[in-house]
Amino acid sequence: MFFKDVSQLEREAPLLRVRSPLVIKALNTMGYDAANVGWMDLMLPEEILDDAVSGAAFPFLSANVRDESGEPPYKPYLIREFDGFRVGIFGLVSPRVVAGKRYKRGSYRVLDPLETAREVVEELRRSCDFVIALTSLGVKDDHALARSVEGIDVILGGLTKKVMYTAEVEGRTVIAQAGSKGMRIGRLEVEIRPGGSGPWVPRGETTTEAARTFSWTPVSLQKNIKDHPDILALLEEYRNTLKEQQIARQVSRQPLGPQSAYTGMATCRECHPRESAQWSRSPHAHAFVTLVRKNQDGNPDCLSCHVTAFAEPGGYRPGSEDPDLANVQCEACHGAGRSHRGRGRINLRVPESVCRGCHNMENSPTFRYENYLRKLGEHSDGYFRRPPALR
Ligand code: HEC
Ligand code: HEC
Ligand code: HEC
Ligand code: HEC
Repeated sequence: MFFKDVSQLEREAPLLRVRSPLVIKALNTMGYDAANVGWMDLMLPEEILDDAVSGAAFPFLSANVRDESGEPPYKPYLIREFDGFRVGIFGLVSPRVVAGKRYKRGSYRVLDPLETAREVVEELRRSCDFVIALTSLGVKDDHALARSVEGIDVILGGLTKKVMYTAEVEGRTVIAQAGSKGMRIGRLEVEIRPGGSGPWVPRGETTTEAARTFSWTPVSLQKNIKDHPDILALLEEYRNTLKEQQIARQVSRQPLGPQSAYTGMATCRECHPRESAQWSRSPHAHAFVTLVRKNQDGNPDCLSCHVTAFAEPGGYRPGSEDPDLANVQCEACHGAGRSHRGRGRINLRVPESVCRGCHNMENSPTFRYENYLRKLGEHSDGYFRRPPALR
C-alpha cells in the first residue's frame, strides 16, 4: 500500500513520511475493516510503519509474524458480528518471500502459514460462523492453504498481483484476488442459507437447498467511477504538502555542483534547430505543464516520467523550474549530451526500451513503438517523419 520499489526505499523515505499518512487517511475514509501485513510493509522504516498502524482506524492483522522476543507485533485476527452472524478475519504473510529480503525492522520471524492457520482457524471456528483469510502468499499457496486447512470459507489473496476474473474454488474455500496497486476493488458477494455449510456454487447455477453461493467481480476503477470529494480534498492537501516541504528536491538527491552530464535543450537547439522545432510541437514539450495544471509538479511519483533525468545526478532539479530539463526533452531519449556538442558520441537510436521506461502499461496502455514514433513524426517537417528505424 505504501511504496513500490524496495531498492528506492531509503532515497524515498522523505516522500513516504508524507505519503503513508495520506494512504492511511484515505483507507480510513473508505471504511476499511482490516488490512493484512505484507512483506513490503515489514521493510518499511520502523517509525513509518508504526505511524501508519497507529493512524489507522482499522487493525493491521498478521497471525504468523513474530518479533525478536517471539511475540506477535500485530493482532492475529479480528472478529466482527453482524446481527449475530460472527465473522473471523485473520492475516498471513509468506515466510519464503520475507526470508529472501533484507529488511530494516529488527529481525522478524515468520511462522509456517499452514501450521499457524490450522491453530487460528480452530480457535476462530469455536465462536465464528464464517472465516476469512487475508493472505500475502500467492495463488498457488492459497490453494495449498485451502487444501490443507479445513474451515476457511474465503481466501482474499495478494502477492501474485493476479486479477482473477472468476473466483476459484478449492474444496470448501473460495479464493479470490483483485490484482495490485488499488487499480481494482474486488467485490465478493456470498449468500448463505441458514445452516448452509455445503459446497460453494457460483451464483446463478442451479443449487441445492443447503448450497452457498458466491459472485465475484474485480471492479476496475476507471474514469466512469467518480472520485470521492473527501479523497480529492486529501489529495489536494497532499500535493500542497509535497510542495511546501520540497519533498521532490529531498528525494532527488542532486549533487549541487554544476558538473552535470546533462546540458539542457537550449544547447541542443543551437545546432539542431529543426529537431528542436519538431520537438516543441510534440506532447513531450508540455509534459511538465501537464503536471503544473494538476498541481502535481511537486510530486516525485509524477516527475520521474514528466521531466528529464529526475533523481539522476545532474538531471532535473525540482523547484528550479529549470526550462531546459523540465519536460521530456532531448536528453530523456538520446541520453546525457554535455560532452557531445557535435563531436563526442550521442545515441542516435532511441530503442523501444527507452520509451518503455515511461510508456509502461500503467501510464501508457495504448503504447506501440511504431505507432508512437509515427505520431511523433506528425509534428515533424521531415525530421524522423520516416525515422530510419521504420524504413
Ligand atoms: C522520460 C519519459 C518519456 C520517454 C523516455 C518517452 N516518453 Fe513519450 N511521453 C511521455 C509523457 C509524460 C507524455 C505525455 C505528455 C503530456 O501530454 O503531458 C508522452 C507522450 C507521448 C506521445 C503522445 C501520445 C498521444 O496520444 O498524444 C507520444 C506519441 C510519445 N510520447 C511517444 C514516445 C516515443 C515513441 C518514445 C520513445 C522513442 C517516447 N515517447 C519516450 C514521457 C516519455
Ligand atoms: C512511468 C511513467 C509515468 C509516471 C510515473 C507518470 N506519468 Fe503521466 N504520463 C506518462 C506517459 C507515457 C503519458 C502519455 C500516455 C499516452 O498518451 O500514451 C502520460 C500522460 C499523462 C497525462 C495525460 C496528458 C494529456 O494531456 O492528455 C496526465 C494528465 C498525466 N500523465 C499526469 C500524471 C500524474 C499526475 C502523475 C503522477 C501521479 C503521472 N502522470 C505519473 C508517463 C508517466
Ligand atoms: C521521445 C524521444 C525523443 C526526444 C525527446 C528527442 N528525440 Fe531526437 N530522435 C528520436 C528518435 C526515435 C530518432 C530517430 C532515431 C533513428 O533514426 O533510429 C531521433 C533522431 C534525432 C536526430 C537524428 C536526425 C537525423 O536526421 O538523422 C537528431 C539530430 C535528434 N534526434 C536530435 C534531437 C534533439 C535536438 C532533441 C531535443 C530538441 C530530440 N532529438 C528529442 C527520439 C527523440
Ligand atoms: C555544437 C553543435 C551541437 C550541439 C550543441 C549538439 N549537437 Fe548533436 N550533432 C551535431 C552535429 C554536427 C552532428 C552530426 C555529427 C555527425 O554526423 O557525426 C550531431 C549529431 C547528433 C545526433 C545523431 C548522432 C548520430 O550518431 O548520427 C543526435 C541524436 C544529436 N546530435 C543529438 C543532440 C542532442 C540531444 C544535443 C543536446 C544535448 C546535441 N545534439 C547538441 C552538433 C551539435
